[in-house]
Amino acid sequence: MKISVIYYSMTGSVYHLAQVIAEGAEQAGAEVRLRRVPDLLPLEVIRANDAIKQAVEAQKNVPVATLDDLTWADGIAFGSPTRYGNMTAQLKNFLDQTGPLWAQGQLAGKAAGFFTGAATMHGGHESTILTMSTFAFHHGMVIVPTGYLSPSVHGTQTGGGPYGPTELGSKPELSDDERAVGILLGQRLALIAGKLQS
Ligand SMILES: Cc1cc2nc3c(=O)[nH]c(=O)nc-3n(C[C@H](O)[C@H](O)[C@H](O)COP(=O)(O)O)c2cc1C
Repeated sequence: MKISVIYYSMTGSVYHLAQVIAEGAEQAGAEVRLRRVPDLLPLEVIRANDAIKQAVEAQKNVPVATLDDLTWADGIAFGSPTRYGNMTAQLKNFLDQTGPLWAQGQLAGKAAGFFTGAATMHGGHESTILTMSTFAFHHGMVIVPTGYLSPSVHGTQTGGGPYGPTELGSKPELSDDERAVGILLGQRLALIAGKLQS
């Protein structure tokens, strides 16, 4: 199976989740591409904010996503921090370039999972995943949720839910539950992408 993990992360939290999802897919035997979408922030905004500067530095070796990373993959995880309960302009900008793939049905039947980060417990974890996922409906992709398939979804006091992996509070490190739900999505995407291929 070939899995792409495509994400945007301004201050690093969603990047941490993306890495864990990639790890889960690799554990399940998949070949993985971890890719960040291009930033849209003006350079002066990045330069004026230490947290953003550190995150840019940490991600500098992650290749920038192209449409080929979508057509190459059997399954794709898409991640973005929340912005008022929806995805960032950065991820939306990338998804809005997939019109030619949509016209040719090139993503139809591929597995799709979604993940996010939010500063607050009730600040939009589910709504961000749900609004991101309309993309997959239009492309005819097969949405892969995490369900309650891990004790971490039942017991988490941080991020991670049945809709997909999430991070709460922009912490320097993921909680154990957030990590477990991230691994779960990577594994499920690889497993279900494999079944769809066969
Ligand atoms: C413009 C803007 C809007 C945001 N909206 C929300 C929100 O609606 N709810 C929330 O909990 N956090 C919100 N946040 C916080 C981020 O989504 C959150 O800190 C995120 O986890 C950071 O992810 P990152 O470290 O990968 O950039 C917002 C942040 C910004 C800059």
